[in-house]
Amino acid sequence: MKLLLPVLLWLSASAALAAAPNAQALATSKNCLACHAVERKLVGPSYQDVAARYAGQKDAVSRLAEKIQKGGSGSWGPVPMPANPVTPEEAKMLATWVLSQKK
Ligand code: HEC
Repeated sequence: MKLLLPVLLWLSASAALAAAPNAQALATSKNCLACHAVERKLVGPSYQDVAARYAGQKDAVSRLAEKIQKGGSGSWGPVPMPANPVTPEEAKMLATWVLSQKK
């Protein structure tokens, strides 16, 4: 019994850590990183800037997930983001990952 709790904690911690590289691989495979970088502006805003702007906003994941899927303009400048070929689940995973980027 004494061993069980640390093992469970270790399992849940490694599951959380595994999500980040998966989302980054997804961002690479969906070409997000052709227009975005984590730390600096390219065609689109850096993901750290996006995370800073929406920090603490409860509906940020769903709003950004929708924008990732459908595209749009006007939040960061006149250049639009085109719609991206992602499923709603992938869009949500990417939005969560973007919002986790801290300076
Ligand atoms: C062709 C270039 C391009 C590609 C590819 C692209 N983006 Fe963007 N992205 C942009 C631009 C430009 C903006 C700024 C739009 C605006 O001002 O509203 C943006 C904005 C964003 C935002 C912030 C939206 C907001 O309303 O604040 C997020 C999050 C984002 N992109 C994530 C992604 C993800 C994830 C992918 C891959 C599935 C992706 N982008 C692919 C160009 C791109």
